[in-house]
Amino acid sequence: MAATRDPETADEHRLAPAEPGAPRQDTGAADSAEPPKRRGKTVHGAAANAGHRVLAPDDAEVEAYLETALKAPAPSRSPDDRPGGGAPGDVTGEPDSVIVLDFGSQFAQLIARRVRELNVYSELLPHDTPWSEIMRRKPKAIILSGGPSSVNDEDAPRPDPAVWSGQIPVLGICYGAQLMARELGGDVVAASRREYGPAMVRITEGDGLFGGLEPDQAVWMSHGDSITRLPEGFRSTARTDSSPFAGLVDPSRNLYGIQFHPEVVHTPHGRDILRNFVIELAGARPDWTAANFIETTVAEIRARVDAHAAATGSDGQVICALSGGVDSAVAATLVHRAVGDRLTCIYVDHGLMRKKESELLRQTFERSLGMRLVMVDARERFLTRLAGVEDPEQKRKIIGDEFIRVFEEEAARIKSDSGGIDFLTQGTLYPDVIESATSETKAAQKIKTHHNVGGLPADLRFQLIEPLRYLFKDEVRTVGQELGLPEAMVLRQPFPGPGLAIRIIGEVTAERLDTLRDADWIVIDEIKAAGLYRSLWQSFAILTPVRSVGVMGDGRTYANVVAIRAVTSEDGMTADWAKLPYDVLAKISSRIVNEVPGVNRVVYDISSKPPATIEWE
Ligand code: XMP
Repeated sequence: MAATRDPETADEHRLAPAEPGAPRQDTGAADSAEPPKRRGKTVHGAAANAGHRVLAPDDAEVEAYLETALKAPAPSRSPDDRPGGGAPGDVTGEPDSVIVLDFGSQFAQLIARRVRELNVYSELLPHDTPWSEIMRRKPKAIILSGGPSSVNDEDAPRPDPAVWSGQIPVLGICYGAQLMARELGGDVVAASRREYGPAMVRITEGDGLFGGLEPDQAVWMSHGDSITRLPEGFRSTARTDSSPFAGLVDPSRNLYGIQFHPEVVHTPHGRDILRNFVIELAGARPDWTAANFIETTVAEIRARVDAHAAATGSDGQVICALSGGVDSAVAATLVHRAVGDRLTCIYVDHGLMRKKESELLRQTFERSLGMRLVMVDARERFLTRLAGVEDPEQKRKIIGDEFIRVFEEEAARIKSDSGGIDFLTQGTLYPDVIESATSETKAAQKIKTHHNVGGLPADLRFQLIEPLRYLFKDEVRTVGQELGLPEAMVLRQPFPGPGLAIRIIGEVTAERLDTLRDADWIVIDEIKAAGLYRSLWQSFAILTPVRSVGVMGDGRTYANVVAIRAVTSEDGMTADWAKLPYDVLAKISSRIVNEVPGVNRVVYDISSKPPATIEWE
């Protein structure tokens, strides 16, 4: 799918190493082919988001409120569930695909993303997926990921041996290449010197996988074992100072191996290597585009809703919760294209959104797209329940509870007005689908433990429509842009479900919300003006309860301190404070003090996560 600039992958104005694919030295382990996963841990070893945090930046939490409130059925996790994969209304057929077998590498998802950036659909499957299952999916190619094990371990993860049969082209990366060598009769031994980090390889066979590349290539290595003898039928295609077999091929069986990682940004021509493999050698058609995805998905949704309506005699009513975030916006727009007025969107205005966000939502969905939108003005309700509450966890709990109540009321109303609701739209993304061992989203599970959910009558049961279940977040943004949604919605930074309530330290009041909204607006305005918005994971203001003395004109002031937080991050689990240019900070500070009543001092938060969290509460 044609990639747009994504905060995660943007390279302009990059402030700190926040790119996916930028390996972290600090995760390195001694003698394994891959560093173990240690992301998201605090220095004390506890999960960085331990305790209260819902692991759901952006609008996932709001969706989870709805999932919980409406007792949504389990999201679909069927292996048959593939784009254009035989669902009713399969108009364009399955896209060509590449299967990535996951041997435990921290980069396995990244490989799939990189392949998709070549406009070829890629899915991640467990390393031991049976050959029959692989064949059923008719992939054009298979990629074996890296992994933390040693191929010489007794219990080293191995693929179904039929992958070596030559029926489908295979590329082994790092551990995957070592597996290829070892399983087919070569030798792999623990290297005397572990290769970790940047390295140079010399390409000795410049066509095929390395077609179009200069002979000397900068690459990223991360392995403790080395191939010392190739199996029969193989020859070397690249070498390094420490290894004669940094690349290998058996052309008769379409088997390729590379010792380095083409998927990470530190292998600058990695994308060319993947393109050579996927498109040139395996012949996959680059038809995984936003436009094709939209066409297929809209047709599938329409066919499914029509079929359900015909079978049950219902109208085929669909509801969707809009949160202001990109996932729900894109999901709703796809469903609206498919079923038009049979979709009703619910937006709970809890009064904790940033400036102009609710208006943008109304403008986009009601006015521009002509959707049926129920905007529930629940601002008073939320404020009343939050009155006098200072504890962050209390705030979260109250907001979640109130959300669920409002949804229940609205769903019941829509149900009685329309005679029934058949489907609920959820913005479940591909990483949720592959990572979820259970039937519920992680956020929904967490919310259930936090909120004592009353729930709706048992007869209110829906089927789920999850139009984004094949997409990574950056692809959702691409689809959103293709659908013509406003940039402010599609490219916005993550925003927590409880909104500004957890950025006001202490009690949340209407007045304090206004103060924070004004300050926050200035932060975003200046960050965008400086061209930094997309390179930051999040940038925002916090209203502290601290008051300090100042002078303004001839008078003394005694007013609030606003803090600014800007961080770079890959996934919110760890984060670095952003080294914002002084002139940008100066502009933000002077504008806030001059334009926002009740604020006379601005400070910049220079804490990283861990040990600090991104949000202050
Ligand atoms: P922390 O503050 O834990 O945040 O470093 C990590 C990411 O999660 C977001 N966050 C939340 N998202 N509900 C949400 O939907 C919450 O209660 C919540 N708390 C934190 C935060 O904005 C950041 O992106």
